Amino acid sequence: MANRQNKAHWEAEEAKLAERMDAAQNPGGEKAVARLAKAGKKPVRELIGKLVDPGTAFYELSVIAGFGMGYPGVEDVPCGGVVTGIGKIHGNWTMIIANDSRVKAGTYFPITLKKHLRAQAIAERCGLNCVYIADSGGAFLPMQADVFPGEEHFGAMFYNMARMSAKGMKQITLSTGGNTAGGAYIVFMACQAVMIDNMSYSFLGGPPLVKAATGEVISAEDLGGAKVHTAISGGADHFCKNQDDAVARVREMLSLDRPQTLYSHRFEEAEPAKPVESIYENLPANVYQGINIRAILPAIADEGEFLEYKKEYARGRGDNIVCGKMRIRGLPVGVVASNMVGIIFVEAARKATEWIVRCSREKTPLLFIQNSPGYMVGSASEHAGIGKYGADMVRAVSCAQVPRIQLVIGPDHGAANYGMCGRAYRPHFLFHTMRARTSVMSGRSAAEVLLSIEERKRAAKDNPMSEEEKNAFRDKMMEKYHGEAHPFYTGARLLSDRVLKFSEIRDWLAMAFEVSLLLPIGEPAFGNLRF
Ligand code: COA
Repeated sequence: MANRQNKAHWEAEEAKLAERMDAAQNPGGEKAVARLAKAGKKPVRELIGKLVDPGTAFYELSVIAGFGMGYPGVEDVPCGGVVTGIGKIHGNWTMIIANDSRVKAGTYFPITLKKHLRAQAIAERCGLNCVYIADSGGAFLPMQADVFPGEEHFGAMFYNMARMSAKGMKQITLSTGGNTAGGAYIVFMACQAVMIDNMSYSFLGGPPLVKAATGEVISAEDLGGAKVHTAISGGADHFCKNQDDAVARVREMLSLDRPQTLYSHRFEEAEPAKPVESIYENLPANVYQGINIRAILPAIADEGEFLEYKKEYARGRGDNIVCGKMRIRGLPVGVVASNMVGIIFVEAARKATEWIVRCSREKTPLLFIQNSPGYMVGSASEHAGIGKYGADMVRAVSCAQVPRIQLVIGPDHGAANYGMCGRAYRPHFLFHTMRARTSVMSGRSAAEVLLSIEERKRAAKDNPMSEEEKNAFRDKMMEKYHGEAHPFYTGARLLSDRVLKFSEIRDWLAMAFEVSLLLPIGEPAFGNLRF
């Protein structure tokens, strides 16, 4: 009965996710598609579909980025205004970064930049070639101070292109619209750029600026169109007649690349022992109710034994984290997974630390499955060294040189976010689900902490809070925290790389581990670990 209710609950939650993704992927609806068609253009995902190998998937990242940002005059930036994701071109995993001109002419808001830079960071870390489909009006001018001059701002996109191409990762630009001012560098910084007749433009200043600056009156085509840059300036390398032609040219350019190497043994793949429904059934609708992770892993892993590490150790305290090894689509991965309510006791922290170090020594990549509201508090725990052993876990996570991926399936609060490889610990990929709740503490705890401070202040002023006031204060804080911890809020701000449906977990993890293993794993180095 509970299982059926859980399943219905998560299916309803994922329907809300699907709705949000649809809004992100179809900004402006039919009208916007018709406007593109009039200019001889396809919607950006259709182009990407032709760019990747036929019949293969495009793994789109951070689809719900940009909702509810509340920028001046602009509430939502659907999909962050830029499509990023990983797909195969001639069998090689490639990062694709494509402006969606339907969102304010593909201009860069702070979230657009953050998303573009995150995609480049993944590409650089995993050694992927990048293809840019450029169609952008450049900086969103009303917010120039927030996107132009800083280290993490506009210039960083080109800095990254230069450094990646120097390291041998190809940077290819297919220009399919206006690329003005700063945006023009996406064409000129590429290793090779493709431009389309009467569709692509690239110039440091567009016709209106040229007229104002020099008095010269000139059309966009004559100033910086495809013919100009491929035949006269040399700023682009390939002249194409239309988008189909241009996509085919990009594929051709990558057709003679050496096949990527996988730095892991891949065992024969096997289907999971349990159907994916068991994830939906076994995860309680109440986010703070305990889980049985051992019942969930068999729906993610290849069939076969989950080789659990220290299974018998300190039952009830040590197994609030379950460690072990399993295979996902044939790739062996080390697992550090929250269990039950997920509070991390000293024993669990010590076990997890050992396991992270062991996996690092063996060069086995790590999967952190996070469902933890924090480390155990109280005198017994403090005296047993939870501060020290929790810190050792954080240290091991920080120094582990193997690919690390975090998947959040429940509470993700406090220092447990650190120990379980949250964003600040630079996991190669970080995925949320609709059950994820990421915040410094739970809404309930935060409400009580803040209430106690408020009560003290009011009492000092001889104006103690009434029960009614206390309840109203609590409710307000809980609502704020619940809102900010929700995967829609964190996903909008790129605190995850994608919100996954439970049914997508296995496929996405298989892709993410494979991509993370395309560069050799270095030697382990654990500084300052005091066992
Ligand atoms: N900053 C803020 N908003 C911009 C913008 C920019 N750089 N460029 C375009 N927009 C907005 C437009 O105001 C319009 O908003 P609306 O839908 O609310 O009316 C929307 O984006 C679409 O622009 P539009 O001009 O209708 O699209 P287009 O396809 O006809 O032309 C461009 C696209 C990029 C060629 C054209 O918008 C342009 O030249 N923009 C200015 C580019 C520039 O000089 N950038 C310098 C940045 S460093």
